[in-house]
Amino acid sequence: MKLPYAEPYKIKMVESVYKSTRDERTIWLKEIAKYNLFNLKSKHVFIDLLTDSGTGAMSDKQWAAMMTGDESYAGASSYYKMKEAIKSILGFDYFLPTHQGRAAENVLFSTMIKEGDIVPGNSHFDTTKGHIEFRKAKAVDCTIDEAFDTTCDHPFKGNINIDKLEKVLQENPKEKIPMIIVTVTCNSSGGQPVSIENLKDVKHLAEKYKIPVFFDSARFAENAYFIKKREAAYSELTIKEIVAKMFSFADGMTMSSKKDAIVNMGGFIAMRSEELFKKASVYNIMFEGYITYGGMSGRDMSALAQGLDEGTEFNYLESRIKQVEYLGNKCLEYGIPIQTPIGGHAIFIDAKRFLPQVPKEEYIAQTLACILYIESGIRGVEIGTVLADRDPETRENRYPELELLRLAIPRRVYTKNHIDYIAEALKMVFESRNDIRRGLRITYEAPIMRHFTTEFEQL
Ligand code: F0G
Repeated sequence: MKLPYAEPYKIKMVESVYKSTRDERTIWLKEIAKYNLFNLKSKHVFIDLLTDSGTGAMSDKQWAAMMTGDESYAGASSYYKMKEAIKSILGFDYFLPTHQGRAAENVLFSTMIKEGDIVPGNSHFDTTKGHIEFRKAKAVDCTIDEAFDTTCDHPFKGNINIDKLEKVLQENPKEKIPMIIVTVTCNSSGGQPVSIENLKDVKHLAEKYKIPVFFDSARFAENAYFIKKREAAYSELTIKEIVAKMFSFADGMTMSSKKDAIVNMGGFIAMRSEELFKKASVYNIMFEGYITYGGMSGRDMSALAQGLDEGTEFNYLESRIKQVEYLGNKCLEYGIPIQTPIGGHAIFIDAKRFLPQVPKEEYIAQTLACILYIESGIRGVEIGTVLADRDPETRENRYPELELLRLAIPRRVYTKNHIDYIAEALKMVFESRNDIRRGLRITYEAPIMRHFTTEFEQL
């Protein structure tokens, strides 16, 4: 007999969550949040799937590392613990700590990207794109077409289309392309992985055109897990061996440690070039802090070093990804339209297929997020028209190909009962989907990055 799967950890500390009523949530959503779930107080949320970023549960070893953190301004032992973990797990000689992922982007891009530049990659994350566009440069999406069809079954939907990439490299002068960015896993295409073969091809092409390759590495360990499971040549390697292989195709990386390093705050940039390290250090000191802490306290650097080790352990990753997969399979069983294959950190519900009767001008995925919250107390996040914002020139709404509701699963936080609750709540909403005829109308929006603060009313 095969025993059922179980998590390779047990719970040592718990946090209470309030089980609100449907009536309470209806009022909170309308009166306090104005139909924007970012505006809810966390105490009004029963299961919080807004993000998997900084919301994970640290281990006893990470908490122990916090207690021995060294808060010296310069040369802290916590910094050296982080340096050692980055060298031994990721293979980079140089690194700069930053307070989170977007800060790493800010420092690196200040060093490398200038007005008029072009930065090709696979569906750059919003903050990455934001930092590129803020410098009046352009992010060019070279993701494979399969990524934009939620029903298409491709094992590596985060892959870069090499022809699309080569076209960009051919058509633009080398001086205008400071780097290629590969996001592993690719959050914007649904937590989808990039294969070793593709990383190798990207690096090969980049070498031909003498352009450096950087990985946006927030979920690099989940990417390595998928490689182990889906890319036959690497199935016998350990996660750490696969990680080393992946990063052998990178000249550097930015990291939001709030994901796969399982800490609540932190990030870094790592690189091979001493020259780049020296240039970036200037901006790190200016924006983040001295080069041996860069926006992080010593205790957080110590916990991060420990988290990098735990986050690249097979058993942990298997429990993490199996939990997400379990929820995804339940959705499929109930006929709920989701992005497949199931991604690493979240379930992405295809809102256009869930609510085909709601017009796109009425914010389909945002509507679905609100209904799920009212019915169950679960908070997800819209990845659709609200997030896509208006065209900066025409000020018209941009309607992205995919209108998604993302349910991101925090690491080591929720039990199987919570996941069953989420699945049943989705089923209930799905079964009554035909009652939902209308969506939302915007009553307030900010001129840029509107999705955090937009206010709506129900139609
Ligand atoms: N890159 C990727 C792929 C990300 O998913 C994120 C953050 C960042 C960079 C920026 O890192 O938040 O530490 O500044 N993603 C979060 C999310 C916010 O919910 O997906 P950060």
